[in-house]
Amino acid sequence: MDTVPAAVAGALRRTIDGGGIVCVLTGAGMSAESGIPTFRGTRDSLWSRFDPMRLATADAWREDPALVWGWYRWRMQGVRDAQPNAGHRALAELARHVPLSLVTQNVDDLHERAGSVVDGHVHGSLFALRCFACGRAHTALDDYMEGAQRVEPMRCTACGDRIRPGVVWFGEALPDDAWASAVDAAERCALMLVVGTSGLVYPAAGLPALARRHGATVVEINPEPTALSAEVDHVWRATAAEALQQLSVLPRSIDRHSSAGR
Ligand SMILES: NC(=O)c1ccc[n+]([C@@H]2O[C@H](COP(=O)([O-])OP(=O)(O)OC[C@H]3O[C@@H](n4cnc5c(N)ncnc54)[C@H](O)[C@@H]3O)[C@@H](O)[C@H]2O)c1
Ligand SMILES: [Zn+2]
Repeated sequence: MDTVPAAVAGALRRTIDGGGIVCVLTGAGMSAESGIPTFRGTRDSLWSRFDPMRLATADAWREDPALVWGWYRWRMQGVRDAQPNAGHRALAELARHVPLSLVTQNVDDLHERAGSVVDGHVHGSLFALRCFACGRAHTALDDYMEGAQRVEPMRCTACGDRIRPGVVWFGEALPDDAWASAVDAAERCALMLVVGTSGLVYPAAGLPALARRHGATVVEINPEPTALSAEVDHVWRATAAEALQQLSVLPRSIDRHSSAGR
């Protein structure tokens, strides 16, 4: 395992010394080491012959709600069965030492289960169920039979329409509060870490550029090149768990060094 690149360590040190905040923007790659498939680059799932872009839309829901709900129930079950990985835990640890604002495109709850506070779930949350027609929140989850591809959605107790997952589908607006928090964090941070995102889904993919325009240093953490790689200050080719584990121990050594020097 490599060590923290000097430029990244330097940027974190300057942020801490200057009393700045770190904004962390995570995508599906953050949860890959928990065994949750990303949208791009996965060939091994039950659903690999389906295109997420065709399932994650309101039109797909209207056309075949049982197919879409079956896909989301499968994904929910995968998240329930998974555990936060070392990267999720490292971010929770980092936040104990550095003011940190966490913005995620992920719809899973692994950051929270690792002990982090998420400032913005910009693409919503799988488990924040609501009625497709009237929007009423719904908490109970139906039973899921392993391997089921089509599952009839639950019904709203208020209006009788179908219960949908609480995610933002392609073509839908982002939740106002989550997006406002994300923009605020991008504009205020001194350092932004962009972890495990392909940088193809806008407007979230515009947050790193926004941070840079406001003077932040932007670091990409991803084992593969992405659409954002050319636009960031530093690229760190490592997985989320590898990189964040190493980064999370730095503030303690920085503390030690600065107190030793005083
Ligand atoms: N866990 C989840 O909640 C989940 C899972 C799949 C998709 N999504 C949704 O997919 C949309 C797609 O955008 P996206 O950019 O987040 O994901 P994406 O699927 O488009 O891209 C995943 C990225 O993660 C990188 N990656 C793979 N393994 C990694 C690892 N171990 N460490 C770090 N990076 C790794 C890949 O190189 C790629 O760049 C988002 O809106 C998101 O809501 C969410
Ligand atoms: Zn309803």
